[in-house]
Amino acid sequence: MSLSSLPGDLNPVIANWLQDQDGALLRANADQLTERYRAGQSSARVDLAAYLTTRMPATYAAVRKVLGEVARLHPVFAPTSMLDIGAGPGTASWAALAEWPELLSVTMVEADARFVELAVMLAKSSALKALALATITRAKMSEATGKADLVIAAYVFAELVEKDAGEAALKLWTQTENTLVIIEPGTPRGFARIHAARQTLIKAGAHIVGPCTHAAACPMRGNDWCHFTVRLARSREHMHAKLATVPFEDEPFSWIAVSHTTVPLSGARVIRPPAQDKHSITFKICSELGLVDRVIARRDKAAYKQHRKTAWGDVV
Ligand SMILES: C[S@@+](CC[C@H](N)C(=O)[O-])C[C@H]1O[C@@H](n2cnc3c(N)ncnc32)[C@H](O)[C@@H]1O
Repeated sequence: MSLSSLPGDLNPVIANWLQDQDGALLRANADQLTERYRAGQSSARVDLAAYLTTRMPATYAAVRKVLGEVARLHPVFAPTSMLDIGAGPGTASWAALAEWPELLSVTMVEADARFVELAVMLAKSSALKALALATITRAKMSEATGKADLVIAAYVFAELVEKDAGEAALKLWTQTENTLVIIEPGTPRGFARIHAARQTLIKAGAHIVGPCTHAAACPMRGNDWCHFTVRLARSREHMHAKLATVPFEDEPFSWIAVSHTTVPLSGARVIRPPAQDKHSITFKICSELGLVDRVIARRDKAAYKQHRKTAWGDVV
C-alpha cells in the first residue's frame, strides 16, 4: 500500500492551529466536505479546519502523485519559479517544493481572504526559503498576472462553470514559461473540465506531458471519464473528524500537464484497475489507437510476469 500524507513540517503547525478550533463544528463540516468538493461546490464559506483536516491531505496526495509523474515524464524540467492558482492553503506549492526543492520563487493566487491568511501562516512556518518568502496574493484567477516556469491549478477549475474551463486554461497557458498542470477531482464533472482544457491547449500548440501518451482526440465517450486514484493515510484527527473506521482513503483525481517543450510520448496508459481472473489479466489502455482491452494470458509466461504488477495509472 502506498501511503501519502502532508509533509512532516506542516503537521505540527496545522495541529497547533486546529487546537483553537471548535471540534464539534469540524466534525459536522468534515462529514460533507469531500462530497461537496467532488460535486464541484464552491469554497466560499467552507470550514477551514475541516478543509485542513480532511481535504488538504487528499489534494496534497493527488498533486504529489501528479507532479511525480510529470517529473518522470519530463526529466529535464527543473522549474525555478511557480504560480499556484486557486492556492487555498498553499497545497500545490508545498507539493511542488517536495518534488523540486530547487524552486526559488513561489507565487500563490487565491480569491478567498480566509484562505490567503491561512496560506500565509503555513508558508511562513516553512524552513524552505521559497515558501517562507512566497508572494501570496488575494486575486481571482482571471486577474492573476506574471509568468512562471511551472503553473499549477489544483482543484480550482471545479469552481468555474464548465464552458469557461477552456478559456481559463488558455489564460494560464499565457502565464506558463514551461509547464502547466491542471488537477481536478476524479469525477465526471472534474474530467469534463480537464477534457475541455486539453482540447483548447492542444489547439493552442501545447505539447502533452501526461497522462495521455498521445495528442490525438480523447477517446473517452458517454459516461466514461479518465481518472486515477492515490491512497493516503488518514491522521487521527482526520479519522475522528470523519468518524472513519479505516486508516486510509483513496482520492480520485483527473489531470492534464502540457509544456512549451516537446516531451517524447510513448506507450499506452492503464486507465482502469486491471481485471484479473484465474487465466488472465485485462488492462484497459488508452493510446493514440483509442481505448483498447489488452488481455495477457497466464500461459504467456513472459508477458504475464512482466505485467503482473502493472497498476492503474502505469504506462505500458
Ligand atoms: C478546492 S480549493 C483547492 C485549494 C488548493 N489548490 C488545494 O488543492 O488544496 C479551491 C480554491 O480555489 C479558490 N478559488 C475558487 N475560484 C477561484 C478563482 N476564480 N480565482 C482564484 N481562486 C479561486 C477557492 O477560494 C479555494 O481556495
